[in-house]
Formats: sequence, C-alpha cells, structure tokens
Amino acid sequence: AIAYVNGRYLPLHQASVNVEDRGYQFGDGIYEVLYVYRGRLVDEALHLQRLARSLGEIELPRPMSAAALRIVIGEVLRRNRIETGLVYMQVTRGVARRDHPIPSPAPRPSLVITARRKPEPPADIADWTAEAITLPDERWGRCDIKSTNLLPNVLARTEAKRAGAYEAILYDTNGNVTEGAASTVWIVTREGTLLTRNLDRHILPGCTRAALVEALQHQGIEFEEREVSLDELCAAREIVLTSATSFVKPVVRLDGKPIGNGGPGATATALFELYLRRLT
Ligand code: PDD
Repeated sequence: AIAYVNGRYLPLHQASVNVEDRGYQFGDGIYEVLYVYRGRLVDEALHLQRLARSLGEIELPRPMSAAALRIVIGEVLRRNRIETGLVYMQVTRGVARRDHPIPSPAPRPSLVITARRKPEPPADIADWTAEAITLPDERWGRCDIKSTNLLPNVLARTEAKRAGAYEAILYDTNGNVTEGAASTVWIVTREGTLLTRNLDRHILPGCTRAALVEALQHQGIEFEEREVSLDELCAAREIVLTSATSFVKPVVRLDGKPIGNGGPGATATALFELYLRRLT
C-alpha cells in the first residue's frame, strides 16, 4: 500500500512522521474518512468543508487548497488501484519541542493520506444489520470538531466489541442520546416519528447525515431534528446508524434486546435506498 506523507508517496511501511509531531504527543490534529464508490468520492464537498471548519476551530492552517487535496486523494487512490474503498486523511499540528500551547510561529502541518479497499454496500440490507450497546458519553465539549483525539471513542468501541456489538450509542448526563462512538444515530419512535439529534457542540455534524437530510427534504419525507432521550432510544421501533464507513446500518439489538421485530425496519430500508441512490 502507498501512503501520502508531506509531499511524498511512500510504501506504507516506510511512511512515517516525526516522534515530536504534536499529533502524536497531544492528539493535536484533525481527520476525515471518506468513502470512494466506483472512483467517486462520496459527499466530497461536505467532507472537505468539514475538514476546513475543524482546522479553523483549532487554528490549524490548511496544508493545501481543497483543489490540491482532491488531486492528492485521487493520486493515492490511483497508486493503490482503489476504485471502491476508504480514504483516511489527517492533518496534525506538525513538529515542535513538547510544550502545550500552540507553537508560534506555527510549524508546518503534517498531512497524511492513506486508502484501503472496502466492499460496496450489500444488495440486501438484511445483510447489513448490527448490534449496539449504550454507554455514557465521556468525551469533551467540542465533539463538533473531528479531532484525532479519540481515546473515549476507542474505549467505547472496545466495550461494544467485547459485548459482541458493533457500536456504542452514547448518552449525556441529562439522559439524552448524543451519537454513536463513530456514527450518527437516527431512531423511529414508538409513535413512528423519524428523529435525529439536533446539531450542536456535542456531536459531529455527519456528512452522511447531511446528505440524508437533504434527500429526505427533497423527497418530502418528514423527520425531526431534536434531542432524543435514552428512554425513546430503548423504546424505538427502529434505530439506524449512519457514517462514511457504515453507510446506513440498522441496529437490530440494543443492549442484548431486540429492536422492532429484530430485523431491518421499513424506515431503515427507505434510508438505505436513499443512500444507494445518491451513490449512483
Ligand atoms: N466517523 N459521529 C462520530 C463521532 C464519527 O466519528 C463519525 C464518523 C460520524 C459520522 O460522520 P460521517 O457521516 O461524516 O462519516 C458521526 C468516521 C467514519 C471514523 O471515525 O472512522
């Protein structure tokens, strides 16, 4: 595999950054994950906008223009001969003697881009279901920034994996659902309302979420953006996760108990179809 590192394309085993890079010492960096489907970057503009926003929020200069970034991503995919897969890119603060405040003058940011193959979404959503567990959200107050500081997410997903589940759905101290450790959460309430949490500093503004919101509005399908309580989650008819890596994924068991009839529901299926339609 070939990785892009600060201007060079290198075999992955030779690709490295300095041990004094602040991304390594402080988690002082921003990342994005994009799905590439048959050579096309899915929701490319949304991801590049979110990257620019995250960088701005932590005062990290852009390593290059969006247009240049697109060219480099394309080159990483070409060199790895990937048509369908995932692109990972991260921008970190760069190399400086270890000291907490942002260095001044600013070091040159480090940019790393890697890619790997990922299968196309399955033809049948029944082959794409998952289990989830619920856990307290122990992350910081700026989860709208896609930071490389992922320790709470790592621990939450480890706990999920040990419970035989795919995702940990997080809830705040008010008993409201925030999001998955690496995905956006949607539910269909007992009353049949499609809901996803409103955007604020406590969740990442998902690109898949934004794309689906647009598609739902376009189709005239009703949904609400508001706080979702843990009780509503547990009593939901359907639970759906969305992200660049999970596409649209129905949760069929929560904390070991079946959701709905234990299979993908009608709304999950409709969202999955909206997602697939956007791909092609
Ligand atoms: N995660 N919320 C969190 C905390 C996430 O980490 C992600 C994505 C999402 C969904 O965002 P999007 O639809 O833009 O992928 C929501 C990526 C895939 C990851 O960390 O691997």
